[in-house]
Amino acid sequence: MKQLGGRTAFVTGGANGIGRAIARALAAEGVAVAIADLDAAAAKNVAAELDAAGHRSLGVECDVTKRESLERALAETNSAFGPVHILCNNAGVAAAAPFEATTPGDWQWVFGVNVMGVVNGLQIFLPHMREHGEEAHIVNTASMAGLFPVGRMPTYSASKFAVVGLTECLALELEGSPIGLTLLCPGIVNTDLAARSRAQRPADATGVDEDSERMLEEGARMGIDPADVATCTVDAIRSGAFYAFSHPELVSQFAERAERIAAAAKG
Ligand SMILES: NC(=O)c1ccc[n+]([C@@H]2O[C@H](COP(=O)([O-])OP(=O)(O)OC[C@H]3O[C@@H](n4cnc5c(N)ncnc54)[C@H](O)[C@@H]3O)[C@@H](O)[C@H]2O)c1
Repeated sequence: MKQLGGRTAFVTGGANGIGRAIARALAAEGVAVAIADLDAAAAKNVAAELDAAGHRSLGVECDVTKRESLERALAETNSAFGPVHILCNNAGVAAAAPFEATTPGDWQWVFGVNVMGVVNGLQIFLPHMREHGEEAHIVNTASMAGLFPVGRMPTYSASKFAVVGLTECLALELEGSPIGLTLLCPGIVNTDLAARSRAQRPADATGVDEDSERMLEEGARMGIDPADVATCTVDAIRSGAFYAFSHPELVSQFAERAERIAAAAKG
């Protein structure tokens, strides 16, 4: 999608962190942006910030685990700005605990947001994009944790492996269509993902491990600025790149995993 100005984007989890940075970067390109988030007040604050800077934006309450909530948010966006051309399936949560500390509630929560949130976004926006027929682009946010295993984060890492798998399968189906697709795999980014996820954790997601949570939170402080992830996301939308890496140096860990698998298969 070479020309971004004049398009409309819908960014889930756009009220904070990477999603907010993507919303800001797209707005700076002249894209009208809907900031869709569980945290409606924070989404509206981001929209107010963008509007004050002379951009066109909308803060909408949206829970990606609920299809009717996504449908409502799409209808609101469509009536404000017209058809949506760019969908960023970015909303996500993280939990850190060794497998044996996790509960069924942890798995349902993390997979509900990180995997079913992406599935719901695709199933609601793909028909919309097919119907309006204009050039469109979808970005699914996975993680480097979806390309190789990350210790003490089995729920998160497995959910991101699922996003990688579903996005690579979808790429086969979208080949040759006017709908571009990007699989965004950031490494560690300095956001409040750990704290925010803890605050949004449902009551039955009880597998909390304080040490692992601390590791996750302290690790994030050493991460890159979300604006750098936004830059590589906008570049990928513009160039039509399928893979977008904000930490290309970490891809060697995926290569090592692939080599381990290949070596095991050789016997
Ligand atoms: N921070 C990192 O190091 C990192 C690395 C790789 C990938 N990611 C991924 O990037 C994405 C954004 O994470 P972030 O670090 O910016 O975190 P963040 O917590 O700053 O932002 C996530 C946003 O998603 C929203 N959200 C959570 N559940 C939702 C739901 N059910 N419906 C709608 N919105 C919901 C939150 O309210 C929040 O605003 C996530 O998918 C995350 O897994 C983050």
